[in-house]
Amino acid sequence: MTFDLNSRYGLNPAHSEVVDACSHIEPCHALDMGCSNGRNALYLSQQGFQVTAVDNNPSAVNMLEQIIQEEQISTIQTEVYDLHEAQLKGPFGFVVCTVTLMFLNPNRVQAVIRNMQDSTFEGGYNLIVCAMNTSQHPCPMPFPFTFEEKELKEAYAGWELIKYNEDLGTMHNGAQLQFATLLAQKPKS
Ligand SMILES: C[S@@+](CC[C@H](N)C(=O)[O-])C[C@H]1O[C@@H](n2cnc3c(N)ncnc32)[C@H](O)[C@@H]1O
Repeated sequence: MTFDLNSRYGLNPAHSEVVDACSHIEPCHALDMGCSNGRNALYLSQQGFQVTAVDNNPSAVNMLEQIIQEEQISTIQTEVYDLHEAQLKGPFGFVVCTVTLMFLNPNRVQAVIRNMQDSTFEGGYNLIVCAMNTSQHPCPMPFPFTFEEKELKEAYAGWELIKYNEDLGTMHNGAQLQFATLLAQKPKS
């Protein structure tokens, strides 16, 4: 029997899109970009994935490390890492970046997405969830970066879109905004 580590350590459940994606993706080496204290990384490891989890917040990574030590988890490797560097090296089968891109410097987002794509092996998957700012739903939060309509979809031209939507969602503080959600599979040459 597996325990729900997220609730044991008072963490939120994994992002619903991560849970959903796991029904399409066989366990493989996953990269969790902007892992915070590990709600997605812990879930993925419990689903049988090997996980590399990175975040630039040392205290969040340290909290995840403490859980890893406590539970003697051998399938999650953490690193304090600034995504702006865009130098992550794969190959990964599943790269996850939920509600993180919007905190990055807009000038680096293209390079970060390119790095995600280049670090993914052929047939592997990328999952991105990120805030949008559109004329219909101007973003009510002062995020440094937001996607425009269709912008994320266009960044994945040539990939198979397993899921793409720009649905209205709600932040923890109740603010409503559009989110771009993409699950895409890298083409095999
Ligand atoms: C809203 S949290 C999302 C955490 C996680 N992906 C999730 O779905 O729960 C955003 C995370 O991005 C991280 N982050 C922000 N800027 C970053 C950067 N330049 N490099 C790495 N991580 C960053 C923050 O430290 C934070 O943990």
